Amino acid sequence: MRHLLDTTDLTLSEIDEMVSLALDIIENGDKYAKACEGKKLATLFFEPSTRTRLSFEAAMLELGGSVLGFSEASSSSTAKGESVGDTIRTVSNYADIIAMRHPHEGAAFVAKRKTLVPLINAGDGGHAHPTQTLTDLLTIFREKGSFNNLTIGLCGDLKFGRTVHSLIKAMSRYSNIRFVLISPEELKVPEYIIKDVLLPSGAEYTEAKTIEEAIPELDILYMTRVQRERFATEEEYLKHRDAFILDLEKLKGAKEYLTIMHPLPRVNEIAEEVDSDKRAKYFEQALNGKYIRMALILTLLNWRNEPDNNLPESYIECGKCSNPHCISNYQSLKNLCKISETDGTKRCIYCENEIL
Ligand code: CP
Repeated sequence: MRHLLDTTDLTLSEIDEMVSLALDIIENGDKYAKACEGKKLATLFFEPSTRTRLSFEAAMLELGGSVLGFSEASSSSTAKGESVGDTIRTVSNYADIIAMRHPHEGAAFVAKRKTLVPLINAGDGGHAHPTQTLTDLLTIFREKGSFNNLTIGLCGDLKFGRTVHSLIKAMSRYSNIRFVLISPEELKVPEYIIKDVLLPSGAEYTEAKTIEEAIPELDILYMTRVQRERFATEEEYLKHRDAFILDLEKLKGAKEYLTIMHPLPRVNEIAEEVDSDKRAKYFEQALNGKYIRMALILTLLNWRNEPDNNLPESYIECGKCSNPHCISNYQSLKNLCKISETDGTKRCIYCENEIL
């Protein structure tokens, strides 16, 4: 049985196969209309969602399966104090596959260790969002025809932006990828992404302070929202909310074949006037999310007899995780870490942040 906690759980050839399957679903949807007959998907969303939850549910329904679940923690027994582990262990008795979103970083790791069925991370706090990345990869492939030789601008909240973290992990595995990181000082990409992902991959990266200075060289501009829900205070959020706003004026310096992406929802970071520009692909991206999730559900259900990627690894006991959003600081869990292969530091097994 295999799970998806991040895109690094998939080899590049597995990603290629999943993208090919999604393309076939787009072309020949009828062929898959009964592919999941009799199967159930549980969508357990402890945090709000429009695209991820509904595209997962639409995906399973279009495959002939059925869905159950909840869209807010308050309507589940979480409200009575139930742990993530107990919820997952229970629901895995009722469903054949589970997609879970949770506000705390590392919650998907906890769920993976308890589930009896394939577990999909549909977003864990500011940590990872691999099915958004698969959505992004399908969009990039449909727009560019390749995953190689691209300059990708990542703009906005790169600190808490889980879609950005997962996308960097995925794209840095391809050839001749350059990243331009466009963010305020306080919302820069976390250290572990630089040390454990970008540096070992050899992918080039530069930093930029404005969209205007970065845009001429970009093949892809990936905009992200400054996420109110990740800040400790409203004041901190307001300080950064309007940091980057893409409008038609700023697009004047861009390539004709730039692809503008955004995981959505947007607040104000892309002016509505950009929606009608032929380079704006974020609503197509949202549609691609349904197709790639159909491919993912089919693949994970087909992999039921594959070797387990839920085996115990070698972890060591350590001190409390310093990340205030880590699941280990909210639930009764052992403080465990692994030693980073790149710099020997201790990393929390749940959220990957450094243990100080
Ligand atoms: N992109 C994304 O995760 O959107 P939702 O929060 O609406 O699911």
